[in-house]
Amino acid sequence: MYGNAYIENDTKLVQSAQVEDPEKLAEFEARIARGEKIEPDDWMPAEYRRQVLRMIEQHAHSEIIGALPEGTWITRAPTLKRKLALIAKVQDEVGHGHLLYAAAETLGKSREAMINDLLSGKSKYSNVFNYPAKTWADIAVIGFLVDAGAIVNQLANAKGSYGPYCRALERICYEESFHLKQGYDAFVALATGTPMQREMVQDALNRWWFPPLMHFFGPPDTISVHTEKLMRWKVKMMSNEEMRQDFMEQYVPKIWELGLTLPDPKLKKKEDGSWEYTQPDWDEFFRVINGDGPCNKERLAVRRYAEENGRWVREALMNPTIKHIVPYA
Ligand code: COA
Repeated sequence: MYGNAYIENDTKLVQSAQVEDPEKLAEFEARIARGEKIEPDDWMPAEYRRQVLRMIEQHAHSEIIGALPEGTWITRAPTLKRKLALIAKVQDEVGHGHLLYAAAETLGKSREAMINDLLSGKSKYSNVFNYPAKTWADIAVIGFLVDAGAIVNQLANAKGSYGPYCRALERICYEESFHLKQGYDAFVALATGTPMQREMVQDALNRWWFPPLMHFFGPPDTISVHTEKLMRWKVKMMSNEEMRQDFMEQYVPKIWELGLTLPDPKLKKKEDGSWEYTQPDWDEFFRVINGDGPCNKERLAVRRYAEENGRWVREALMNPTIKHIVPYA
């Protein structure tokens, strides 16, 4: 199966990108320039396959891991309505993970291989999910601002060139809009609540804005390694800095109008319409995405536990004739 060939011959495929048939490559790039979608059975350069797969796979992992910090608050949600909304949101996020794994599989890597790479630390997932959700206000900030950031990114990527990814993103964006509304509602409730609630949401905002949310869109364009190629192939439709600017433009005013502050003394809109801000520590970013953030070990340990304890279910589903020993039965 060529999926295995991809996994085993990763390096070979990348090298082969340098010797692609020039005619095929020109036709491929012309299709992209015309705004056509690339579908799984179409010819594509090995490097395009590798890059799109890398991005969708990381995105899928982010959805699955992203369910963990919010999931821990389901039992502690302050009201029944908040609990119901949070349960629905967490369930949606896991569903997004499945949609994205299915889109990534069309490029030839099995879901099992992707999960293995997540658990071994080989694959990355979003930096933001390696920070703790200490109070209920963190859930409001995640629901409002992390989902808002995800929408900025996903609305742009949904107009990209790889058909299965774009179709998955269109559906995901509808659901993310509901997530943003529930997050904003919880955020406003705290910001306009008692002094203690206001203090709680301000504290969560301070911790999430700087640096996790400022890191969320990736490193500055000058050091982003993949942007140039991905934008040429219309996989990424905005650069990291364009997304960060769009996010600040839409959401900083919404935060300020509630009388809350942001932990960046430099933050202001310049005369040319762009936002000035303090550069976050990019060494910290690379440490966090490479496994050394405050919660990386905990997040992967929870996923590993789920993987190991769910194995008997997967095996039973794949082969119902085998007798299985059911743990805890
Ligand atoms: N969290 C974790 N890793 C990140 C990141 C983030 N917020 N931003 C960038 N990185 C990683 C990249 O994956 C890359 O690592 P790699 O080469 O080992 O794969 C490295 O940092 C350099 O960044 P860059 O060259 O800018 O990567 P990119 O062009 O792929 O852009 C994204 C980064 C996140 C903007 C892009 O991959 C993307 O849009 N992904 C899909 C959306 C997504 O994953 N969202 C997750 C949250 S819901």
